[in-house]
Amino acid sequence: GHIRDFLHELPKCEHHVHLEGTLGPDLLFPLAERNCISFPNGFPTSVEELEKRYKKFSDLQDFLNHYYIGMSVLIKEQDFFDLAYSYFEKAEKDGLWHSEVFFDPQGHVERGIPIEIVINGFKKACEKAEKELGITTKLIMCLLRHLPSEDGLLTIKSVNTYYEKGWIHGLGLDSSEKPFPPELFENCYSFLKKNFPNIQLTAHAGEEGGPSYVSNSLDLLKVTRIDHGINSIKDEKLMERLANEKILLSICPLSNVKLQVVENVGQLPIAEFIKYGVSFSINSDDPAYFGGYILDNYIAVHESFGFDLETWCLIARNSINGSWCDEKRKLEML
Ligand code: HPA
Ligand code: ZN
Repeated sequence: GHIRDFLHELPKCEHHVHLEGTLGPDLLFPLAERNCISFPNGFPTSVEELEKRYKKFSDLQDFLNHYYIGMSVLIKEQDFFDLAYSYFEKAEKDGLWHSEVFFDPQGHVERGIPIEIVINGFKKACEKAEKELGITTKLIMCLLRHLPSEDGLLTIKSVNTYYEKGWIHGLGLDSSEKPFPPELFENCYSFLKKNFPNIQLTAHAGEEGGPSYVSNSLDLLKVTRIDHGINSIKDEKLMERLANEKILLSICPLSNVKLQVVENVGQLPIAEFIKYGVSFSINSDDPAYFGGYILDNYIAVHESFGFDLETWCLIARNSINGSWCDEKRKLEML
């Protein structure tokens, strides 16, 4: 219908998508074959069976277990390139203008894949997407919070040259949230910020963790963005702070339903965010696992909230203004 066309045409920015989370069954099995990778016993053996398994996850950890098995098929630079470029192609068809993409270097290095293989593949896909698809892109490295912070610090040091070259634009924090609070990674964030004062910082917080995960990410990690952040709604003072400090929440509606953080999109505190003046963007998180790319997430929000055009324009503007692209690109999109 015409609202779908309107949402398609709206200049959209994505701030929360894990490249490894764009690995769907359609690419997973061919890559496994190409690289002679076998899966653990009991792992689905066909696209249909795997799609069925991805219909529902019991929680974040249940999903992550599949996510780490999935990424084991990524071996060569070409694999990383193919993965990222096929995401950019899908996103471009959805009417995406600007994409800030996460990747998990530790998930590859711990399997023996050299970091330069990972980054060269992703970087080449970003360059081709800018040239051929007209999407602007930024790479954001994430640390896995279930690994020790010493490992995170070594990872940051190992990609120093890529930060110097400007190939990596920021730092994030992902994986199992609740047993691993943000304060564990203060040293990693402060080390990177000291060496690269202009670096952008974000962290997953308030997806399964409570509002203190959000405020501690702001206070201790000095992030200027929060990934998910939906549990901020449980703390009114925090909501006021997010509005005052213009912190962007990168929310992921279909992800929250699939991981049973909420029962349905209508339960998300999106109307409250608007009322408090808290900026947010709408994102796909791990689209191959959660059953929808960026436009599906916009449509799901519209189906539950039925926002008027003015509200949609406000959401699009906040998402552009909260992006980490340069001012010139923002003006093109606004
Ligand atoms: N949360 C935490 N870690 C993740 C996610 C997420 O939504 N996606 C990929 N890694
Ligand atoms: Zn995420």
